[in-house]
Amino acid sequence: MKIIVAADYDEMSKLAANHVAQWVRQNPKAVLGLPTGGTPLGMYRNLIEMHRGSNLSFKDVTTFNLDEYVGLEPHHSNSYRYYMYENFFKHIDVQEHNVNIPDGTAEDLEQECIHYEDKIRNAGGIDLMVLGLGNNGHIGFNEPSDRFPATTHVTKLDESTVQANARFFERIDQVPRYSITIGIGSIMRCRRILLLASGKAKARAISAALEGPVTPSLPASILQFHPDVTVILDAEAASKLTNAV
Ligand code: F6R
Repeated sequence: MKIIVAADYDEMSKLAANHVAQWVRQNPKAVLGLPTGGTPLGMYRNLIEMHRGSNLSFKDVTTFNLDEYVGLEPHHSNSYRYYMYENFFKHIDVQEHNVNIPDGTAEDLEQECIHYEDKIRNAGGIDLMVLGLGNNGHIGFNEPSDRFPATTHVTKLDESTVQANARFFERIDQVPRYSITIGIGSIMRCRRILLLASGKAKARAISAALEGPVTPSLPASILQFHPDVTVILDAEAASKLTNAV
């Protein structure tokens, strides 16, 4: 595991964008796994700038989003599909048919999960998965639990996740309670992982995930067993690490 500590959010975002851009330049047909939330917004902004200014193309890239709320229509301004188009996809040359986001309005959600997992397999697996981190140590929406979920599944969001996500909604009762998420097994099968975290609120989860015991009660801790993980943190998120580089 390689841990890089940036001075602040802007530097973390630039380093993260460079990491993704380098991979895409070397592998124009790369399959990327992508998160939403506050953390990757700066990375997406930097990638858009590189697309505009320095020829970074996503024309042959395939993307799989980590998760989507259950029950929000795709055009809903809080859906992750909407977020991805607003903050990234509509500004780059990725092709619509190469974009994959779970359908949280599918009539048969179990079938949608199986279908999503099949699509990842048929694409040859994910080359580079970018992850954010929940304050409670979740990755995707794999919440603290007594087991590591293997594949894409429907998950009930923790109360703390609902509280954290409420900042994007007008009222807390509008935050969906369920989502579809790629499973921990699916994340562990990705060839490379880039984990990003910024801010003091992530410091405890980062130190537990990277330096504590591997346990499903802190899902990100499983990344200690992955052979190719890069972690890019800002100084605040790294502040509780004892062995930060
Ligand atoms: C979102 C996702 C979540 C977030 C995490 C951190 O697609 O998979 O695991 O990465 O909740 O969210 P932010 O970045 O808003 O702190």
